[in-house]
Amino acid sequence: MSIFTSKHILLGITGSIAAYKAADLASKLTQAGAQVDVILTPAAEKFITPLTFQSVTGRKAFTDAELWGGEAHVLHVGLGHNADLLVIAPCTANTLGKLAHGIADNLLTITALAARCPLLIAPAMDVGIYTHAATQDNVRILTERGAYFAGPDEGRMASGLVGKGRFVEPAELLGHIRLTLSHTGTGTTTGFGGKLTGKKIVVTAGGTQEPLDPVRMLTNKSSGKQGYAVAQAALDAGGTVVLVTAPTSLTPPVGAKVVQVRTAREMLEAVLGESAGAEALVMAAAVADFRPKTVAENKLKKRDGIPQIELEAAPDVLLAVAGLGSKKPRVVIGFAAESRDLLKNASSKLKSKKLDMLVANDISAPDAGFGVDTNRVTLLFPNAKEETLPLMSKSEVAETIIAKLIVILESR
Ligand code: CTP
Repeated sequence: MSIFTSKHILLGITGSIAAYKAADLASKLTQAGAQVDVILTPAAEKFITPLTFQSVTGRKAFTDAELWGGEAHVLHVGLGHNADLLVIAPCTANTLGKLAHGIADNLLTITALAARCPLLIAPAMDVGIYTHAATQDNVRILTERGAYFAGPDEGRMASGLVGKGRFVEPAELLGHIRLTLSHTGTGTTTGFGGKLTGKKIVVTAGGTQEPLDPVRMLTNKSSGKQGYAVAQAALDAGGTVVLVTAPTSLTPPVGAKVVQVRTAREMLEAVLGESAGAEALVMAAAVADFRPKTVAENKLKKRDGIPQIELEAAPDVLLAVAGLGSKKPRVVIGFAAESRDLLKNASSKLKSKKLDMLVANDISAPDAGFGVDTNRVTLLFPNAKEETLPLMSKSEVAETIIAKLIVILESR
């Protein structure tokens, strides 16, 4: 179950060329499990039709035609009251002004006045319009009133100008919606909504890279997917998340503070620095155990013959954290990637690294471990309890880890 499951999202579309991107957003929200009710302003209808939204959401999309129809007296109230979140995306300067000043001249702006749920606005307008003092005043009024904003981004506009005012891309907007649901306590149906509010959770992800020369390195097959999913699940639970990540091809979840590292040493420094005041550390990164003893300043040349590479031990981050004593995070969770003797090796890591929980995965299974979207894990605890989970998506594994983390924190 995701944070979107059974959520009522009211999606307002206004008259911007970015309206076509809102169809993608509505589709993504629906696929994530949300019930999406769309309201188009008359200007939005010039860019896109209600049918487009009905087709992707499977629900009626509303326009001003309904405002003057038989249900008029209740429609705006009903739509507003049923919503967990009102998202206006794209939001023009015109609608922004109306929202700031309580003007209600179409179904969307009337509904916005009637609604008591949180409001998330994704502006889309030309740079000159966005930076105009009138628009900026309206943004300030709405921010002070508690509205959330997603963007706008900087970049190229439909006018050809480059600047601030671009509509945030739908995938990122989905992250903003997710974050708003978790911050406003409306993310409760995940089963652990808000339980990590105010708590700092450090998550590591990805495979470290140990340089040999300026172009070569020792690394591993970690994609970072499981760690990023844990960071997202911790955000969904309201946590203040720091994601310490080795290079990956993934986009970090919206709302996480991202610390980019490359080597095991950099990861060690970042984790020790961020562990101060952290409630929990989830060490999902695949950290190098060995690194080249020397790093050549210049590219090693073929003409100089085959190099003899001497390795030395890289720092063990979890062992260093265990050595922090009373300064270590209250809960420390590690991972074990094993290709044989899974439980035997995992349980010795649980003890030697002084962990509160260890997530063991058998990397020899084709549907678990590196790169794939699913995982097959066993959870190990210091009291020798073991829990083998069925094949799950990495997001579901992440939600289970965060649910266990909450139980451990609450038992302390
Ligand atoms: N880990 C770490 N620092 C390292 C290596 C691993 O903190 N230099 C952490 C990993 O992030 C993981 C746990 O320790 O949470 C176990 O990692 P794993 O690679 O499975 O085990 P190793 O400690 O490397 O032990 P082995 O070589 O026996 O597999």
